[in-house]
Amino acid sequence: MTMLKKLHMTAAVLALSTTTVAAQEVEVLHWWTSGGEAAAVGTLRDALSDGGVGWVDMPVAGGGGSDAMTVLRARVTAGDPPTAVQMLGFSIQDWAAEGALANLNDLAAEQGWADVVPEALQRFSTYEGNWVAAPVNVHSTNWVWANTALMEELGVEQPGSWDEFVSAMQAAQDAGYTALAHGGQAWQDATVFESMVMGVGGPEFYQASMVDLDPEALGSDMMVEAFQRMETLRGFVDDNFSGRDWNLASAMVINGDALFQIMGDWAKGEFVNAGLTAGEEFTCFRVPGTQDTVTFNSDQFAMFNVSDPAAQEAQTAMASAVMSPEFQITFNLVKGSVPARTDVSADQFDMCGQMGMEQLAEAAAGGTLFGSMAHGHANTPSVQNAMYDVITAHFNGEYDAETAAAELVTAVEIAQ
Ligand code: BGC
Repeated sequence: MTMLKKLHMTAAVLALSTTTVAAQEVEVLHWWTSGGEAAAVGTLRDALSDGGVGWVDMPVAGGGGSDAMTVLRARVTAGDPPTAVQMLGFSIQDWAAEGALANLNDLAAEQGWADVVPEALQRFSTYEGNWVAAPVNVHSTNWVWANTALMEELGVEQPGSWDEFVSAMQAAQDAGYTALAHGGQAWQDATVFESMVMGVGGPEFYQASMVDLDPEALGSDMMVEAFQRMETLRGFVDDNFSGRDWNLASAMVINGDALFQIMGDWAKGEFVNAGLTAGEEFTCFRVPGTQDTVTFNSDQFAMFNVSDPAAQEAQTAMASAVMSPEFQITFNLVKGSVPARTDVSADQFDMCGQMGMEQLAEAAAGGTLFGSMAHGHANTPSVQNAMYDVITAHFNGEYDAETAAAELVTAVEIAQ
């Protein structure tokens, strides 16, 4: 279809929709199933409901969204795409390349998205110059979540280096606590791993290995060291880590059974949902060794091409609600992330949120902001899944560190 014809059609649809009183509804596919995430979904559902748009829930559990993306593929193949889908980085680009996503240019122009969405996000929200997704937040993955009462009891200060981090975990383990709350699922292993890569090799190494997929970097001594750090961490998780959901790992820190969790700031959503306050019952700091960097991912809503005018109108209403500055505050206070818009005040955010916003801006300006591999912002879904397999096999003892680095080179080569 030509652009002009498309515009005419959009205009016709809009004209039609203003005179139609058809019930508006969005069916939203997402993977926000934990307590904190469900509370965040609630804020979106309420915002839409205030605007007269109904919500049909399509949750598919599993951080990183791999399972949600499998369900999405099945729905689209069956000719029944959901109206709106939570999506990450490179997946948005893949679906846009297939021509499956609705064009949001009119709304984006009307609301001036280009001026308030940072470049690092626009790179994923737009495809060939057209807006195809609305970003609701920015998460970052290189965080440690800590129980402050336990730190005090153990006499542990906030660790600034890898060695101090290991000593702190040793103190917790010696005292009979779980040092590191972790859930053995591939995406969680990968979330922790990317901070080891950054911590060992710094920004250049992260870029070369995770983004540029340089075989030399992937198979290097530094990569071996990143895997060795994973082995150290493996020594600090409890016996029941296998298969545990991330929010149950957060609960271990919340309940004082575990000292630390390495996880993206969606974990803060769990602490907040449990009634805890940042800087009081819990604290947050960057994974030691990654202090001057931010690995990010952004949840965006992509709208699938649908022919029903009422559904199209609902999509526009949803994208508009997602991009509202007030909504980005309400939502992100609950979600643990920070706003995707750069023009939103940090005043209402807690200590971790304010730190997150400040560091994000600094990293973006200083060239130390990198897409999260584990959460779809460093490389394509097929490369990401290949990395997951190697990282998780190694974490479960199938490979030693040298073999894992060699396997990573091969797996990435095959996946490309
Ligand atoms: C998403 C977050 C989500 C987390 C755990 C990440 O990939 O970006 O919004 O909370 O997975 O489910």
